[in-house]
Amino acid sequence: MGLTGKIIVNRFGVPGQSLRQAERLMSEFAARGVDTEIISDGYLGTGVFGEMSEASSFFCDFVVYLDKDKYLSAILEKKGIRLFNRHDKIRVCDDKGETVIALSGHGFNLPDTVFAPLCYDAGAPLFHEDARNIAERLGFPVVVKESFGSMGKGVHKADNMSELTALMQRLKTVPHIYQRYIDGRVGQDVRVIVIGGKAEAAMLRSNKNDFRSNIALGGKGEKIELKDAFFADFISEAERAARVLGMDYCGVDILFGKNGEPVICEVNSNAFFEGIEAATGVNVAAKYAEYILGSFK
Ligand SMILES: Nc1ncnc2c1ncn2[C@@H]1O[C@H](COP(=O)(O)OP(=O)(O)O)[C@@H](O)[C@H]1O
Ligand SMILES: [Mg+2]
Repeated sequence: MGLTGKIIVNRFGVPGQSLRQAERLMSEFAARGVDTEIISDGYLGTGVFGEMSEASSFFCDFVVYLDKDKYLSAILEKKGIRLFNRHDKIRVCDDKGETVIALSGHGFNLPDTVFAPLCYDAGAPLFHEDARNIAERLGFPVVVKESFGSMGKGVHKADNMSELTALMQRLKTVPHIYQRYIDGRVGQDVRVIVIGGKAEAAMLRSNKNDFRSNIALGGKGEKIELKDAFFADFISEAERAARVLGMDYCGVDILFGKNGEPVICEVNSNAFFEGIEAATGVNVAAKYAEYILGSFK
């Protein structure tokens, strides 16, 4: 059909996994007669020179943006290239605080969330009433999350006031949020891959050794049948969240509330699909390539 695309991975991305993800997509496009090229963003001749933004090496119809770099995505969109996902959608998902705000008001169950005020002075004093207010609103344990993070790395738990104040101090100049601990099923959540508003794969993630169910932290994935009645609300809420946020592709993490109800945890614009493909046998790369090509018909 004469389309050409680029697949952009982050220069400093997870070694191996990022590239394998890109290569899987590339081969699915090739199987459909579409040439793509994998590019590791960095210093690509993009920038603003004189009065104009430039993206010299980027003549193509679409970019699969397996990155979160907001400068490059802004320039590419300004050049009229269709990004999967789009620049502004990636930005909202990248920031866990912005994601919660964007999802609010749409009838989702969300963890109660308190936003750390912006602090740009590492030497600024902490206000003890802030810690008291967080504890009063959210109780203990409380989840403390860096706004930008993945694979569980920036997600912490404070069991008492002294752990809370230590985290408040440590993260003072880092954008972060405080969340009610959702404990319907500790160490378990549901990951759903949604493409074009439709759930394509889902797994139950369980971690026996940590409240964080991330595969990168030892969580194990188990296939969920998309038609499984027990998970029907999880699947439909994942699809709804992806639609509300306008995602072409995403992985939605959903916690179990007190009564087993779905509570939206976060939405990943660039969810790795290797783990969920292994757990479910679904060819996620093929589904995504088909969706992208289908959107040009
Ligand atoms: N509010 C919460 N209550 C209980 N567990 C949580 C909460 N938020 C996150 N978790 C656990 O921590 C994991 C990582 O949190 P998440 O927000 O998805 O960050 P990341 O981007 O690092 O995956 C989740 O998959 C879930 O198991
Ligand atoms: Mg997550």
